[in-house]
Amino acid sequence: MAIRKIVVLGEDDILRKHARLVEKFDRRLHTLLDDMAETMYEANGVGLAAPQVGILKRAVVIDVEDDHGLIELINPVIVEQSGSVVDAEGCLSVPDRRGTVERPEKVTVVGQDRHGEPLRIEAEGLLARCLCHEIDHLDGVVYTDKMIEDVTDRAPAQDGQ
Ligand code: NI
Repeated sequence: MAIRKIVVLGEDDILRKHARLVEKFDRRLHTLLDDMAETMYEANGVGLAAPQVGILKRAVVIDVEDDHGLIELINPVIVEQSGSVVDAEGCLSVPDRRGTVERPEKVTVVGQDRHGEPLRIEAEGLLARCLCHEIDHLDGVVYTDKMIEDVTDRAPAQDGQ
């Protein structure tokens, strides 16, 4: 495993591109996922999307320190959502900033695991927020695009995604 460089917003337009569907569930993908998890933990983040390490593939890793542990999600799609919550979030590609964003309270996401097997995750709270945030990254969307209010001065930067 290896720590990869996290792309910072404004430094590289890869964060603004649509990531491609993953079709090969091979060793190369597994190395990418291993590296993404290591990079996320090293940065004290709760989520990381492949474009954030310069790879335009629809792959994300998430760990919000709940019962799910480390989640690896390939080709994720939100198939159901309900409710709405405004809360603060941060992003490893927008260092030292926090902002409030409206997100669904609950989401159901389908995708695949690292072997291509189907995965379905029902989530609420921070995990739902994180799933939405990471899936946005796969479509070139950064949370600051949807930010209601910059709360950097009120909430210390933490839980980057
Ligand atoms: Ni992010």
